[in-house]
Amino acid sequence: MALMDPVAGFEGALAEVLAEAASVDVGAVVRVLGPPRRAEHGDIALPAHPFARVAGVAPGVLAEKLAARARDLDVVESATAVGPFVNVTWRGSRFVSAVVDAVRASTQIPGGLVAGDEGNGKTLVIEFSSPNAARKLAFHHLRGTVLGAALARLFEARGYDVIRLNHLGDYGHNIGQLLGMLDRSSSGDERLSPEELQALYVEANRQEAHDPEQSKRIAGEWLALFEAGDETAMRRWTMIIDSTREALDSTYARLGVHFDEYRGESRYIRSSLEVADKLLEDGVAQRDPERGSIFIPGDDSHQPIVLVNSRGISTYEGRDAAAAIERQRDFGFDRCLYLTDIGQGGRFEAMFAALRADGLEWAQGLEFVGFGQMRLGGRKAKTREGRAVSLDDVLDEVTERAAQEIAKRDIAHDDVDRVARQIGIGAALFGQMRMRRAADFDFDPDEAVSFRGETAPRVQYTHARICSILRKAGIGREEALVSGDPELLADPLEVRVAAAIAGVPAAARRAVEAQDPSYLTDAVLVIADAWAVYQTAGSRNRVDLRVLSEDRELRGARLLLAAATAIAIEQILDVLGVASPEAM
Ligand code: ARG
Repeated sequence: MALMDPVAGFEGALAEVLAEAASVDVGAVVRVLGPPRRAEHGDIALPAHPFARVAGVAPGVLAEKLAARARDLDVVESATAVGPFVNVTWRGSRFVSAVVDAVRASTQIPGGLVAGDEGNGKTLVIEFSSPNAARKLAFHHLRGTVLGAALARLFEARGYDVIRLNHLGDYGHNIGQLLGMLDRSSSGDERLSPEELQALYVEANRQEAHDPEQSKRIAGEWLALFEAGDETAMRRWTMIIDSTREALDSTYARLGVHFDEYRGESRYIRSSLEVADKLLEDGVAQRDPERGSIFIPGDDSHQPIVLVNSRGISTYEGRDAAAAIERQRDFGFDRCLYLTDIGQGGRFEAMFAALRADGLEWAQGLEFVGFGQMRLGGRKAKTREGRAVSLDDVLDEVTERAAQEIAKRDIAHDDVDRVARQIGIGAALFGQMRMRRAADFDFDPDEAVSFRGETAPRVQYTHARICSILRKAGIGREEALVSGDPELLADPLEVRVAAAIAGVPAAARRAVEAQDPSYLTDAVLVIADAWAVYQTAGSRNRVDLRVLSEDRELRGARLLLAAATAIAIEQILDVLGVASPEAM
């Protein structure tokens, strides 16, 4: 369900009046309405020159006429013509009322102010995280995991039926290497931890560097045994996957992430060969005359990709083609999103193009959603040499820092652990989303957990401060939301808080269009900032703005704004997967 966007409502009313006065249609006015050149000119501006010719008057004259008409509107505080421009300022109290109405309505809707209806029951598959088996989640998996989980919730809020899918790397050379290593390790078939598996993998790479021929042969033989359903190979493989899954699920749980489906690459060993044959038959793929491999030739806009190698074995790309076809068959998706680092974009786009060239209409719904690279304090994790920084370690680190931070604060002893987790993990999540999706960045755990800067703790702290005022006033959030009179809130600092909240629907639209949660982190930071400025002013030099005013009516209205702000913050943090503790 979608909410009424308060800003859009005001703009619509203004556009109608102006269109009538200029004798043009409303759409033409809406297209040119926009923010004024300078913030102090007002909330919104209209250039009159595009309509002056039709009206047969000078732009300045038309601007004067339009300003006069705009002033008639109840929602307009002031409208002035400056040269050919009409600058409009909304009537504060009416504006705040409209925003409060939107927040009140939002509490009845899943997703709240972030909700939208363009999904309209369409099915969206989102594949994300998809690590390789036999190791713990490494720090660098955090970005894709966090972005995927947030986008999944965002799309749900926008009315899509979302399926979260993990395309586990449970097949390939690395798995062959491990199956072979288990043969030689004394541990045989007993259950190994991901750490032990990872150590074996590092050892395998060391041996391979030493004697590539021999190591590759052994890995290949074990993979072939696995493909043939050999009992020992199957048992070992199952052990590896069970151990991996258990560790993955525990780390995902810490992040509040879950998947509806795990579908590993090994599922497509055979079907990918059939897909390659079909593409060959249809003339979309070709067979290399010398090597015998099956590939899709590149063109000006796509790189070539190999589907089946010269030994007749499926490739990573080939298995992806089969997986896409299976996803369409099983889920009938309208859209299927692939979240990986930008570096993999070329081969995905080439695969999508091949399926489209094969006449598969639904392949239009395949979308690559790439993200930039992340480093940890300048380091870049390298799994092959065994130097991967484990994600659990980083999560321990941020939680520990959060605990130190709140140890100095006034938090009930029993709650310290829980709140430290909420702040630490929240900081890690928010830190992954705050940058634009495609941007490369360096993640600094210290900075992420800071209560200053563009961080989750800063937003969470603002939320907790509001909760504390409400507690002091002895009123619940829901009650405060419905009891105050918003028309009393007309101070510019109050209007600014409302305007920040009013920005959420537009930010949510932008986040959906750009498939980028950073527009929501922007929006929530703006809200937290506006509230902090307001509350701080009231407790310092502007006693007349104190939230807990002596005046009963004012106090009720301000507690209403406080509740609306806390609700807006919590709704956004919910979609981002970040907790909103009530005290910290
Ligand atoms: N397992 C791969 C890796 O760790 C990522 C898989 C991405 N998804 C896909 N459908 N290929 O690099």
